[in-house]
Formats: sequence, structure tokens, C-alpha cells
Amino acid sequence: MSAGGTLVVGSGFVGMGIALRLATAGESVTVTSRNRPGRLPDTRGVRWHALDATDPEACGRLVARLGPRRVVLVHGPSDVTWCEAHPSRAVSAHTAAAANLAALAGDARLLMISTDNVFDGSRPDNTEDTPVSPANAYGRAKLRAEHTVLESAADAVVLRVSLVYGHEPADAGKWLNFFAACAHRLLRGEPVTVPEDQWTTPVLVDDVAEVTAAVLAAEAPLPPVLHLGGPDRVSRAAWASVIAQTLGAPPHLVVPVPRAATRYASRPENACLTSSLLTRLPATAPITVRGVREGASELAGAFTDTR
Ligand SMILES: NC(=O)c1ccc[n+]([C@@H]2O[C@H](COP(=O)([O-])OP(=O)(O)OC[C@H]3O[C@@H](n4cnc5c(N)ncnc54)[C@H](OP(=O)(O)O)[C@@H]3O)[C@@H](O)[C@H]2O)c1
Repeated sequence: MSAGGTLVVGSGFVGMGIALRLATAGESVTVTSRNRPGRLPDTRGVRWHALDATDPEACGRLVARLGPRRVVLVHGPSDVTWCEAHPSRAVSAHTAAAANLAALAGDARLLMISTDNVFDGSRPDNTEDTPVSPANAYGRAKLRAEHTVLESAADAVVLRVSLVYGHEPADAGKWLNFFAACAHRLLRGEPVTVPEDQWTTPVLVDDVAEVTAAVLAAEAPLPPVLHLGGPDRVSRAAWASVIAQTLGAPPHLVVPVPRAATRYASRPENACLTSSLLTRLPATAPITVRGVREGASELAGAFTDTR
């Protein structure tokens, strides 16, 4: 590969956040997906190219054309429920894309965004040393892809990320993250029914992008697996209460219920990550990963301005 910018495979919620962060810093960034994203921020230096990452020839053609010096794998399928219903398709999509890009990476750094679902959720926390035991079909698919990139690419890093949140506009149609869904419903005066017994370490998408940029830029050697979670371990109900309080919504709109009574019934009790290694990452400036109160304050204006 020649030195030619960053290829981001996946143009969804997390992929676009990473692409924008890199482009804002002057990097040449190409995001890819099978379908053109609805909201492509052309003006900020992010180009889009069609790619089905499970197609080896299409990957070969694009990599030959772009010659990226960094590749970020941040593609789907990301829907836990869909993966549970289609476990073999989930595994084949994630492993094929991982194998295709790993085979083409050469000396480029290949960073794969993975998930806390590689753990079964029985522990209140998971560090890089915690033994993996996937929670579900999605976690099994992501773990297989992790192994593929780490075994096949010369300079691969897996960044396991906890639940990501950020701003999405009110008219997005379907909100992709818990914070946005909660915030828009609360601002409309609608109740949100949320588990009081499912725990997570949420992390702001801008902080994921910041850490990703630092991992991409860091001098080798890096640990093969890094964790990124926010500093607060909160239940979804407690988090929703923080969102309501920050947005000035009535607290009674947050209705805490047992996880079993919600669509999160099949999700692990704990979806939490901490890192003992990220603090050692060389960065141009110290990276502060924000907690849920700081994150809510950071986002509040964007949600209230677009009502
Ligand atoms: N969101 C989170 O909280 C979170 C947390 C931890 C890890 N992650 C990981 O981050 C990744 C992205 O998550 P997300 O929330 O950004 O998901 P998302 O919004 O659903 O985006 C997924 C993207 O992948 C693309 N894609 C799917 N199949 C593809 C294929 N065969 N070839 C090329 N592109 C393909 C999709 O576009 P098309 O369908 O048009 O191809 C879409 O742009 C997932 O792998 C997930 O495991 C997410």
C-alpha cells in the first residue's frame, strides 16, 4: 500500500464520527458502505465510496485505487437482535470483511472497532485481561473477526468499545443510539421505559473518535487489544435520569423496569469495559473520556436547538 489517507469501512453512527474527526484534523478520509449514507458531510472532507466489504475483489480494487495507510473496520451488521436471528450470516459478514481487508492491509495499520459483547456480562467490569466468552451471536461474530484481523494483518489493533452515544437529529427516522432516542422522547414529553438492572459504561462518539485517532497515529508496537469505556458505570435507568435532568425534562418520564420486561431482555446484565492500557497511549494531548453528566451537558444544546 502507498501512503494515501484513511479508509473507513462502515459509514454508520460510529464510522462517520471517526471519519469526521480524522478529516477535521486534515486527514484524507474515504468512508465506505453498500448504500450511500443519507447525511454525507461532503463539506468536511469526507468522501464516500460504495463497497461491500464481504466482496474480496471489490475490496482489492478499492484498496489498489486508494492505497490507504490506515484502515478502520467499523461496519455492520451491528444490530444485536438481527445477529441473534441470523447468526451464521453475522459471522460470515464480519469474518469475510475482516479477512478481505486484513489480506490487503500490507504495512498499513488496521484498526477494528469491536464490542463488550465478546464478554458474557457476568462481571461488573472487563479489562483487556478478562477472558472472553461472547454474550450472543453478535459477540461471537465480532470475536471471530477480531481473531481474523489479529492473525492476518501485520499491524492490527482491536479497540473494544462500550455503548457509544451522541447527537442525532430529531428527524433521523430511526435513532441509532440510546441517548438520542431517550433525549428526543423526553423532549416530546413521552415516557421512556428503561432497565434498572442493565449496566453499561457509555462513551461519547467524539471520545471514541479521539481515541481512535490516537491509536491510528501511535507508534508501534501497540497492545493487540485495547478497551474503551466511559468512566461511569451506570444502569440505563440511571443514565436516562441524568439525560432528563440535563435537558430539564420531568423526572417521572423515566420509568425504571426490570430488564426482563424490555427489549433488552436478551442483553447481558453488564456491558462494561475499562482499560489498563489506554492511559499509556502516546497522544499529542491527554485524552479525557467524558462521563455521563459531562456527555449529557456537552450534547444538551444540540438536542434542544433542533426541536
Ligand atoms: N454503536 C455502538 O454503540 C458500538 C459499540 C461497540 C462497537 N460498535 C461496532 O462499531 C461498528 C459500527 O457500529 P455502528 O453503531 O456505527 O453501526 P451502524 O450505524 O449500523 O453502521 C454500520 C455501517 O456498516 C455498513 N455496512 C454493513 N455491512 C457492510 C458491508 N458488507 N460492507 C460495507 N459496509 C457495510 C452499513 O452500511 P450499509 O448497510 O449501507 O452497507 C453502515 O454504514 C459495528 O461493527 C459495531 O460492532 C458499535
